[in-house]
Amino acid sequence: MAAPLDTVTWAVALTVLICAILSWGFVSRSRKSNVPVLGSDFLFGYVMAFRLLTHYRQTLLEGYRKHAFQTPGLKGWIVFVSPELYDDVRKSRDDALSMPEEVKSSLALENTIGPVVLHPWHFAVVRKQMTQNLGAKFPEVYDEVLTAFEDELQLPANGDWRPVHAHDLIMSVVCRASQRLFVGLPLCRDPEYNRISRDFSGTVMMGGFLIALFPTFLKPLVGRYFSAAPKAIRGVEKYIVPMIEERWRQERELGDVWNERKPADVTQWFMDSAPEGERDAKDITARILSVNFASTHTTSLSFTHVLYWLAARPEFLPVLREEVAAAVAAHGWTKGALGAMRRVDSFIKECLRVTGIGATAMGRKAMGDVTLSDGTVVPKGATVMLNMWGIHHDPELFPRPDEFDPWRYSRRVEQGKSEVSNALSTASSDFLLWGGGAHVCAGRYFAAQEMKTMLAVIVSEYDVRFDGLEPGVRPKDTWFAFSCIPASNARVLFRRRQTC
Ligand code: HEM
Repeated sequence: MAAPLDTVTWAVALTVLICAILSWGFVSRSRKSNVPVLGSDFLFGYVMAFRLLTHYRQTLLEGYRKHAFQTPGLKGWIVFVSPELYDDVRKSRDDALSMPEEVKSSLALENTIGPVVLHPWHFAVVRKQMTQNLGAKFPEVYDEVLTAFEDELQLPANGDWRPVHAHDLIMSVVCRASQRLFVGLPLCRDPEYNRISRDFSGTVMMGGFLIALFPTFLKPLVGRYFSAAPKAIRGVEKYIVPMIEERWRQERELGDVWNERKPADVTQWFMDSAPEGERDAKDITARILSVNFASTHTTSLSFTHVLYWLAARPEFLPVLREEVAAAVAAHGWTKGALGAMRRVDSFIKECLRVTGIGATAMGRKAMGDVTLSDGTVVPKGATVMLNMWGIHHDPELFPRPDEFDPWRYSRRVEQGKSEVSNALSTASSDFLLWGGGAHVCAGRYFAAQEMKTMLAVIVSEYDVRFDGLEPGVRPKDTWFAFSCIPASNARVLFRRRQTC
C-alpha cells in the first residue's frame, strides 16, 4: 500500500501551487491599457481587486465620466468602456476580442458542462428553429406558466392572502415554462427532473467560479474533484438519454411517418441538427444543459426583480390589467396579444434597466493587443466590458435615471419613436441586458416572451403586494462583484384577484 504523503511533501506541493497561481496572476496583469486606472494597482492590483468585489457600482458610476478606464480584476486588467465604443466591441471577432475565451476564464464551462461548449453548434438552433417556433409554441408556454403558478401558489379557496417565497416561486415557474419548450410534456412537470435541472445552473456557477480561479493546467483536476457538476449531469442524463434513444428508435422504425409525429421541442431540434458523428444522446443532453444554464437563472433572477417592483408599486396594476385585457380580447392568448402589450413590455424593460441582474455587459478577452477606434488599447489577456451600470443610469440617456418610470419606453413609442428600438427584446448600445454582436443572447425573444407571459398572467389572475414594507420599497438586493441578486428570502403576498 502506498505510504500517505508526509507533511514536507504537502508543504512543497502547496508552495508550488501558490507560486503557480501568483506567477500566473502577475503575468496576466503585467501589461496595462493606456486609459486611466481607477483605484490602486498596489501589489499587482490584488488588494483593489478584492475591494472592488463589494464596490463595483460606485466605481462604474465614477469611471463613466472618464469614458474609458481600467481596474484590476481578480484575473487581470479590466477595461470598461462607454456606449461610444459599443460598436467596436459588438463588431469585433473572436480572434481579436473573444467572448468564448472570456467565458472560459470566468466560468470554465468546459470543465463543468463539458467539451460541447467548445463546439456550440446548438446555439444556432436556439437562434433559428427555437425562435421561429415561438408563435406556434406560445399556447404551450402560456399553459405551462398558468398551470405552474396555480400548482406552486396553492392559494386558499377563501380568497385570503398567502405569503410566498418569491424567488423559489419564480424559479419553479421559469423552470417549468422553459422545460415545456426544451423537453415537452410530461418530463417538464416531473418534480425530481425539475429540481435537478434547476439546481444544475447553481452548481455550474459555483463550480465554474472556483475552477476559474486556478491556472489552466489545474482546471480539469479541480473540475473533476471539487465540482458537483458531474453528479448533476448524471442526474439529468437519467431522464433525457432514454427519451432521446426512444425517439431515435421510433425514427428508425417509422421512417417518414416519424417526421409527421415527432415532437416539436428543443431536444428534437437539436437531434435533427446534430452533425454526422455527433448523434450521441449524452452529447445532446449536455447541449440541453448548456441552454438550461444560459436560461434558468438569468430569466428567474430578472423576473424576480419584476415581481418585486410590482409588489412594491401595486398602483401600476390597473394600467397593466387594462392593457392585458384589451390585448387578449383582440387576439386571444397568443403571441400577437403579447406583441400588443407595450406597457407590459415597458414595465419589464424599465425594471431591468433600473435594477437588472448585473452591472457590466459584453465581456470579451483580448487575444492580442487591440486598439479601439478612439485609441483605447486593450492589451493581450485583458478583458474589455461595457459599463452597463453607468450607461443604464446616464441622465443624458434616461432623464431621472434612478427613478422607476414603468412607462418610460412605451411613452417613447406613443410619442412616435421606433417600436423596435424600445422593445424589451432589442439589444442596443443603451440597453445591454442581452449583450450584443455575434454573441448577443440567442434566447432573448423567448426570454422576453416568457417574462411578458408571466407578468400578464400575474396581473390577470392575482393581487400581489409586500407585507410590512413601506409603499414603494423593495427588499434590498445583494451585490457581489458585477452580479445583482434580488433578495433571495423575501416573501410576496398573493391572493386570487379581487381588485380591478
Ligand atoms: C432574462 C433572461 C436572459 C438574459 C438576461 C440573458 C443574457 C445573455 C447575455 C448577456 C448573453 C451574452 C451576450 C454577449 O456577451 O454579447 C447571453 C448569451 C446567450 N444566451 Fe441568454 N439571457 C437570457 C435568457 C436566455 C434564454 C431563455 C436562452 C435560451 C433559451 C438563452 C440562451 C443564450 C445563449 C445560447 C447564449 C450564447 C450565445 C452565443 O454565444 O452565441 N438566454 N444571454
